[in-house]
Amino acid sequence: MLVRPRAPDLEGRRHWIERLSSSIIDELAGEYGTPLYVIHSQTLRERYHEFVTEFEKRYSNSLVFYAYKANYLPAVCEQLHRLGCGAEVASGMELELAMALNVNPQQIAFNGPLKTENDLFHALSSGVKYLNADSPEELRELDVICRRRRTKASVGIRVNTDVDLDLHGFRSKFGIDIARGHARECVKLASRLSRLKLVGLHTHIGTQIMSPNHYSKALSQIIQFLEENGQFAHSLEYVDVGGGFPSNSIAPLGLTEAVPPIGSFATKIAEEMKRLSEKCGHEIKLLLEPGRYLVTDSITLLLRVVRVKECKTETFVVLDGGTNLVPTVRNLGLHHDLVVPGTRRTERGLKTVVGPLCSEYDTFLRGEFPLVKEGDIVAVPCVGAYDIPLSPQFLFPRAGAVLLDDGKSKLVRNRETMSHVFSLDSIRAS
Ligand SMILES: Cc1ncc(COP(=O)(O)O)c(C=O)c1O
Repeated sequence: MLVRPRAPDLEGRRHWIERLSSSIIDELAGEYGTPLYVIHSQTLRERYHEFVTEFEKRYSNSLVFYAYKANYLPAVCEQLHRLGCGAEVASGMELELAMALNVNPQQIAFNGPLKTENDLFHALSSGVKYLNADSPEELRELDVICRRRRTKASVGIRVNTDVDLDLHGFRSKFGIDIARGHARECVKLASRLSRLKLVGLHTHIGTQIMSPNHYSKALSQIIQFLEENGQFAHSLEYVDVGGGFPSNSIAPLGLTEAVPPIGSFATKIAEEMKRLSEKCGHEIKLLLEPGRYLVTDSITLLLRVVRVKECKTETFVVLDGGTNLVPTVRNLGLHHDLVVPGTRRTERGLKTVVGPLCSEYDTFLRGEFPLVKEGDIVAVPCVGAYDIPLSPQFLFPRAGAVLLDDGKSKLVRNRETMSHVFSLDSIRAS
């Protein structure tokens, strides 16, 4: 049964959608149709400024790169770039998007375990500044490409730190193992590759990390690694700690602890970076790649009630969009509120709120819910991170998106149509 208790941090908080008048919400839903993702520019700006300020005041030599994977709606990326944020890309496709959005290559970090030769060539020839190799093979490929291009490159390696996070029995496949000596071998290899200069270390420990101590542990391992590789410590220029900073608007079901504020992460990371810089004998640049933290709160999904029906002993509220539009509800077991905008109706009843998909799993909530009627809008706030890029198409074309900025709305993604969904198929009448 899907009863979604509010996580402790969410108690008493109001989402931005609850501060909009219901007539504005009705207008948006009427003009653009539902289901509809609404991006709130102001919230995006606030989260970015909060994040940057908390880190800059503790460690000024830091750069922020938005992790595109969290949501690569171009309109979202663009908003963040306009504020000065860089791009963290994890595939050739994301790199192409960053280039199409005119991101300065000096503000791009390129990671990921699958970078094709073409991707690496493209990144090097475009001047991408922070290129982190995931394996010794990738270092060799980079060296070969540099030889072909008759250039040299400064690069980083991603290391696999051991932080003992609960990955539900899975192990991290990313980067080069420190504990088994592979990272040390890689440093030696890089010193033999005449076209490459190793200047950076990258690590990313996971997502929705609930304790700043996990970052301290990862950085301590990096410091120890640098102590054992003194020559490399000398030439090191940057350490990239990846993303993983938790949003306090969503929470794993059953969470009982409060989500620590971003400042507490900045404090721990800054402490370790100062220690690290001291060991290296010069100040090391800190790179950060937040995804979830920056975008979660800024997007709300608007759905419309299409039916209220009784079946057996339950009252079902059927919405016009399914849980495929909010896949983190099911995939990651994250809590999402449901809001009925503008409702002053205090009367509530036991309801099962569902989408239109052909599956009993297509359930948003089972519990107390306002007494709604056909045509009412139901909003799912805080769907900015991972919901849109992970959303599978199923039965219905996917939702469009509008940007809401200073009271004005603008369509930034068209709703899919039948021809988008089948655009790659050959459909022939026999
Ligand atoms: C290398 C890297 N950087 C940044 C991120 C962003 O993580 P989050 O959205 O949790 O901040 C990820 C997520 O998987 C990642 O793999």
